[in-house]
Amino acid sequence: MLATFFTIVGLTGAAHAYSFPDCVGGPLANTTVCDTTATATARAQALIAMFTTDELINNTVNMSPGVPRLGLPAYNWWSEALHGVAGSPGVSFAPAGQNFSFATSFPEPILMSAAFDDELIKEVATIISTEARAFNNAERAGLDYFTPNINPFRDPRWGRGQETPGEDPFRISQYVLNLIDGLQGGINPPLFKIAADCKHFAGYDIENWMGNERFSFNAIISTQDLSSFYLPPFQSCVRDARVGSVMCSYNAVNGIPSCADTYLLQTILRDHWGFDDNRWVTSDCDAIANFIDHKFSPDLPHAAASGIIAGTDVDCGTTYSNNLGAAVNMSLVKVSQIQAALTRQYASLTRLGYFDPPASQPYRQLSWADVNTPNAQKLAYTAAVEGITLLKNNGVLPLASSIKKLAFIGPWANATKQMQGNYQGTAPFLISPFAAAQTAGFTATLTAGTSINSNSTSGFAAAIAAAKVADTVIYAGGIDDSIEAEAMDRDTIVWPGNQLDLIAQLAALGKPLVVLQFGGGQVDDAALKSNPNVSAIMWGGYPSQSGGTAVMDIISGKVSPAGRLPTTQYPASYVDAVPMTDMSLRPSATNPGRTYKWYTGTPTYEFGTGLSYTTFSLALSGRPASSYNIQTLVKAGQAAGGPLDLAVFDTFQVAVSNKGKVASDYVVLGFVKTTAGPAPFPNKELVSYARVKGVGAGQSATASLKVTLGSIARVGDDGSASLYPGDYTLLLDVPTGVTHSFRLTGTQAQITQWPADPNAS
Ligand SMILES: *[C@@H]1O[C@H](CO)[C@@H](O)[C@H](O)[C@H]1NC(C)=O
Ligand SMILES: *[C@@H]1O[C@H](CO)[C@@H](O)[C@H](O)[C@H]1NC(C)=O
Ligand SMILES: *[C@@H]1O[C@H](CO)[C@@H](O)[C@H](O)[C@H]1NC(C)=O
Ligand SMILES: *[C@@H]1O[C@H](CO)[C@@H](O)[C@H](O)[C@H]1NC(C)=O
Ligand SMILES: *[C@@H]1O[C@H](CO)[C@@H](O)[C@H](O)[C@H]1NC(C)=O
Ligand SMILES: *[C@@H]1O[C@H](CO)[C@@H](O)[C@H](O)[C@H]1NC(C)=O
Ligand SMILES: *[C@@H]1O[C@H](CO)[C@@H](O)[C@H](O)[C@H]1NC(C)=O
Repeated sequence: MLATFFTIVGLTGAAHAYSFPDCVGGPLANTTVCDTTATATARAQALIAMFTTDELINNTVNMSPGVPRLGLPAYNWWSEALHGVAGSPGVSFAPAGQNFSFATSFPEPILMSAAFDDELIKEVATIISTEARAFNNAERAGLDYFTPNINPFRDPRWGRGQETPGEDPFRISQYVLNLIDGLQGGINPPLFKIAADCKHFAGYDIENWMGNERFSFNAIISTQDLSSFYLPPFQSCVRDARVGSVMCSYNAVNGIPSCADTYLLQTILRDHWGFDDNRWVTSDCDAIANFIDHKFSPDLPHAAASGIIAGTDVDCGTTYSNNLGAAVNMSLVKVSQIQAALTRQYASLTRLGYFDPPASQPYRQLSWADVNTPNAQKLAYTAAVEGITLLKNNGVLPLASSIKKLAFIGPWANATKQMQGNYQGTAPFLISPFAAAQTAGFTATLTAGTSINSNSTSGFAAAIAAAKVADTVIYAGGIDDSIEAEAMDRDTIVWPGNQLDLIAQLAALGKPLVVLQFGGGQVDDAALKSNPNVSAIMWGGYPSQSGGTAVMDIISGKVSPAGRLPTTQYPASYVDAVPMTDMSLRPSATNPGRTYKWYTGTPTYEFGTGLSYTTFSLALSGRPASSYNIQTLVKAGQAAGGPLDLAVFDTFQVAVSNKGKVASDYVVLGFVKTTAGPAPFPNKELVSYARVKGVGAGQSATASLKVTLGSIARVGDDGSASLYPGDYTLLLDVPTGVTHSFRLTGTQAQITQWPADPNAS
C-alpha cells in the first residue's frame, strides 16, 4: 500500500463510518439482494442491475460511495489487520480512554512464523477477526481486510519482510492456510467472519532499491521459480484456504503489470485455482495508475480498461472512477465487464452477511467486550514467547537466580511502539524489556548508549559505567522501522550505526553480556557470534504488546525458548554478491543462490536455527519405509481425491525426548534432500514441521510429520511437478540430527500440470 496515503488518510482519523443497507424498510427491501434464500451471485447481480452506469463506475474504487438513492451505504474496502486490527483508511480507533481506542497487537508475522505452530496462527487469526467484527459493529472498521502479506522473503534487504512468514514457501503456505481459516471463520464458510486478502500477487518484494522502484519494477521470473517459489503461498491461500480476495501488485512480471496480467489473474488465479465470482481482486493502491510508469498504458482510460479486462475488480485509488466513463465512451471496455467486477464485490459482501438480518448473525453481536479479553492478552504474549529465537548461548542463559542487577543498554531496551513494527494498530499496552525486568523483580538500569543508526559515541561512557556496576549486561538493538519499512529497502545488512562498536566495548568488560537482536530482516551477527565475551544472542523480531515480558521470561528461565529462524541470516557480503533485482533462486555465476535451499555460501545463522535450555534427542519411531513405488503413491493419491500434490506421501512419527533438566517446547523440522529430478538440486527443502509443547524434563512426546506428494515432487522448467525415481534423505532438525534414507521406485509421474502462459512466445 502507498505509505503516503496512510499518512494522509489513515492516521488523521478521517476514516470512514460504516453502516448496513436497510433490507427492512429501505428501497432494497423485497428485492433479490435482500433475499437470504438466493445465491450470493444472484443477489449481487440483482443489486448491480439497479445501478446506472455512473453509479456503477463510481463504485469501482476502494472508497465506494454506495448508491444513496437505493439505501446502499458507502463502503471502504480498505481495512488492515496484519497482526491485529490496524490503523488504515477503513479503520478508526476511538480517542484514548474510550471503547474501541485499541485492539490486541500481536507480534509481526515474521516472529509468529518462527514459532512453527499452526494452531497458534489459527488462534491469533480468530482473535483478530473477532475484534475486527466488534469494530465493524461499532461502525469503526470494514469487513474486508488487506491482509496477509505472503510474498516470500526472498532477499534480506526487503523493507517489508517483517510482514511475511519468512523465506520458505512451505512454511508460508501452512501459515496462510491456518491464518485464513481463523480470519474468515473457517474454510469457505457459508457466512464469512471477515474477508481476507492475500497480497501481493505476484513477485512483489522490492520497495526501492538503488532506484528500482516497486511502481515500475519489472520482475523477470522463470516459470519454474514462479511455480515453486513465488506462488505456492498464493495457491495455498486461494485454492486451499479459499480466501475472499487477492491483491495484485505494483510490479510487472515478465513485462506485464500484475494488475493487467490475464495470465496471473485469469489463467492462474481463476482458471487454475478456482477463484470464483464470490471473490474479487483489488489493485494495490494506485497500481492502476502505475500502468503509465510501466509504459504499459498510454493514458489513464486505457489503464482503467486494461485493469478491468484483466480481472482487477476494485481499484484501490481513483483511476477507475475517474476514467472508466471515458474508457466506456472510447469503447475500450464494456459496461458488462464493469458489472462483472462489481458483481464479484457485492457477492462477497453478501457472503459477509451485509444484506442479512443482524439478529440471525452471531458476528453481528460481537462488541467492545470481545476486544482485549484476558485470552487475547495471553495469546499475544504466547505468540511472542513462542517465536523468540535463541541463536547463541554459552550457558549464561537462563540467568542464575543470584543475578539481580541488570544494565539495560541500547535503542531497543525500553522499546514500546517500536515493538509493533508496521501495519500496527493502537495497542492496549506495550511492555518494554526494561519495564518487564523491573516487574520481574530485577534491579535494572536503563542507558541508551547509542541510537539505531548513529555515529555519535557521546552515550558510550554512561553505558559502560552502567555495565560495570551490573551483574549482567543486556544490550537490546538491531534494526527497526527507521531502517526497514514500506518504500524502504536496505543497502546493507550490517548492524546500523555504531551499535557493534558499543557492543564490542561492552564485551571487553568481560561481564555476562546478552545481545537482543530485534527487527524483521536479519543483520549479520558474525562479529557477535565469534566474540567469546558475547554470552548469548537472541532474536526477537517485533514482539509487540507483551514483547518485553516474553523476552524477560526467557532470559530469566521462566520459559525455555523454542523458536526457529524463518529466514537465513546471511553474512554481510551477501548484498555485494547479488543485485536485489535478480529474481532467480538458483545459484549462477552472478548469484550465490537464494534462501537456505539454494544458497551456496555459509550463512551466519542457518534457516531453522534455534537453541533451547534443554537437550532433546530425536528418533524416528516405528519402522519408516525405505522404498516407495511412484505408481502406487499416485494411485493411492488419486483414490483419496483432492489435489494430488496434497495427497499424503507418508507420516513420519518422531519420538522427541527431553534429556535435560527443564521443560520445554520443541520444534521438529523435517527436510528432504535428493539428487533425483531436474538439476541443479537444492541443499534441502522443508517438507514438514511440528511443535511439541511442554515436554517435561526426562519426558518424551511424539511428533507426527505429515509429508505430501507435493513436498517430495520436484518442479521442472515448465512449472509442473513430478515424482522422480531415485534416492532421497529425510533430515531432521537444524543442524541435521537424525536422517533416514528412502528410495522412490517405478517411473517418473507428473502430479501437477502448471498452466502455460498464453502470451508467451
Ligand atoms: C415489502 O413487502 C412486504 C410484504 O409484501 C410489504 O409489507 C412491505 O411494505 C414491503 N416493503 C417495502 C419497503 O417495499
Ligand atoms: C459519481 O461521483 C462523482 C464524483 O464524486 C459525482 O460528482 C457524481 O455525482 C457521482 N455520480 C453518481 C451517479 O453518484
Ligand atoms: C460519455 O458519453 C456520454 C454520451 O455522449 C456523455 O454524456 C458523457 O459525459 C461521456 N463521459 C465521459 C466521462 O466522457
Ligand atoms: C463500552 O463497552 C462496554 C462493554 O461492551 C459496554 O458495557 C459499555 O456500555 C460501553 N460504553 C459506551 C460508552 O458505549
Ligand atoms: C520507557 O518508555 C516509556 C514509554 O515510552 C516512558 O514512559 C519511560 O519514561 C521510559 N523509561 C525511561 C527510564 O526512560
Ligand atoms: C556515519 O559515518 C559514516 C562514515 O563517515 C557516514 O557515511 C554515515 O552517513 C554516518 N551515519 C550517520 C547516521 O551519521
Ligand atoms: C573478554 O573479556 C576479558 C576480561 O574478562 C578481556 O580481557 C578480553 O579482552 C575480552 N575479549 C574481548 C574480545 O572483548
